[in-house]
Parts: sequence; structure tokens; C-alpha cells
Amino acid sequence: MNQDSPSEEVLLARIDRKRLPRHIAIVMDGNGRWAKRRGLPRQVGHRAGVNTVREIVRASGELGLETLTLFAFSTENWKRPQWEVNALMRLLVQTVRSEVKEINRSNVRITVSGRWDELPDATREAIGYAIEQTAGNSGLRLNLALNYGGRRELIEAAQRISRDVLDGKFPPEAIDENLFEKYLQTAGLLDPDLFIRTSGEMRISNFLLYQLAYTEIVVSPVYWPDFSRQHFYEAILDYQLRERRFGLTGDQVRHSS
Ligand code: IPE
Ligand code: IPE
Ligand code: MG
Repeated sequence: MNQDSPSEEVLLARIDRKRLPRHIAIVMDGNGRWAKRRGLPRQVGHRAGVNTVREIVRASGELGLETLTLFAFSTENWKRPQWEVNALMRLLVQTVRSEVKEINRSNVRITVSGRWDELPDATREAIGYAIEQTAGNSGLRLNLALNYGGRRELIEAAQRISRDVLDGKFPPEAIDENLFEKYLQTAGLLDPDLFIRTSGEMRISNFLLYQLAYTEIVVSPVYWPDFSRQHFYEAILDYQLRERRFGLTGDQVRHSS
């Protein structure tokens, strides 16, 4: 943030509460480069990133968002050096254990998209505990994308649907968007309205390939550990300036609203 940018309070006051995105999905990127720039090991960047997670979850809850999906570990991230994968898995355990109390106090419900059944035992247990402890909460839904990959999600949906067709549960003609979405790892969630990626990378990296069809995209140049409430509010304000056309003409959209 440079000296001249509006303060957090000013940005917050500019947000139109009646037109909030209902679901924001974030690719939290740039932890490694943040650390490297300081001559520190990559895992220090991941640790610093946890502070950003805490702030953005708080901000989302205070705004009254329905869902915040955070991409925490991709199906491709297993290919990183083993020490980094281990560090990330340990960090997940520590973070969940230290944060679950506040998360519960804030009425936040934790859910997961992704094959978290394949995570190492300690991580899987910590995540299972967090899901269970927060299951009754009715505020923000904090959806963690863990061991998530969009292609794998779609392929597994195709496998399960085929199995159900072969079992005679429904004919192939019954497969429509409504049915298909029930087989995705985001079943029951609205599609994201706003997709934020930090660290300036202009790519999706196998995140929510189906669900992002009409999501508004904001790329922030800032590395995730430096991403603040100001940046988050700016992304929402940017979203509120967009005209979402869903294939219609601008005139059609303006006349219907
Ligand atoms: C995002 O930061 C965190 C995860 C992918 C788990 P990175 O670790 O990708 O950071 P960069 O992209 O190397 O800077
Ligand atoms: C995407 O970031 C995955 C997460 C943020 C968890 P990556 O850093 O893995 O993506 P690429 O490799 O730069 O595309
Ligand atoms: Mg990265």
C-alpha cells in the first residue's frame, strides 16, 4: 500500500453492502517469493501467510459473506520438495489447532473441497476435528480447498456418475447442470462471484475449473503474506464496478435491473 491509498475504514465505507459477492474464492499465492525476497526459507513465507488467512477470514465474517474458499494445497503441490510438503502439512495441523477456538467464537463453519482423506494422518485428524467442531455454526462458511485439483474433481465426478448410470439410478439424459454439480467437491456451494489471486500470476492453476465459468477475476500484485484488508476491500470494490453480463448484452442487463 502506498502512503496515498485510502485507509481501510474509507475503503470499507465505500463497499455497497447490498451488492456483496456471496462467495469469494482465493488462490493464496506468493508465500515462497515473499520469503525469498527477505533471504528467508520458503516455510517462513507459509507461516507469514497464516496471519493473512486469519485477517481475511475475520474481514469476511465481519462483512457477512456467505462463503470464502481458500486454495491451500493443490493436487500438484505434492510434487514440491518433500520437506516443503511436510512443512505445509505440519503448518495446517498447528493452524487448525490454534485457530479453531476463535473460528468457533466467530460462528464460522469449516468445510473442505478436495480429497482430504488422502492427507497424512495428523493433518487429516486435525481437519476432521475442525469440521466437526464447527459443523453447527451458521455464519461464514470457510471452505478450504485441500488436495484439490479441478481436473481430478471433474474426472471423479464422471466416474461416479457413470457408476450410478450403470447401476440404473438414472439414464444418461438425466445428466444436467443441476445433477452434475451434486457430484462436484463443491456440492451445495454457490459458484464463486469473485476470484482473487495474489502475487500477480494470471492463471487458474487447476482451481475450480467448472465453477469459475462466470466468476469475476481480480489479480493482486501483492504476495499473500502482504495481502491486507485494504487489498481485500479494494478487490471487492473492483468487483462492484463490474458489469456481469452472463452472455447477454449490456443493454439487456441494465434494463432488467
Ligand atoms: C502459495 O505460495 C502457497 C501454496 C501453494 C501452498 P507458494 O508457495 O506457491 O509461493 P510462490 O508462488 O512460490 O511464491
Ligand atoms: C496454486 O498455487 C495452489 C495454491 C495456492 C494452493 P501454485 O503456486 O501451486 O500455482 P502455480 O504452480 O504457480 O501455477
Ligand atoms: Mg505459487
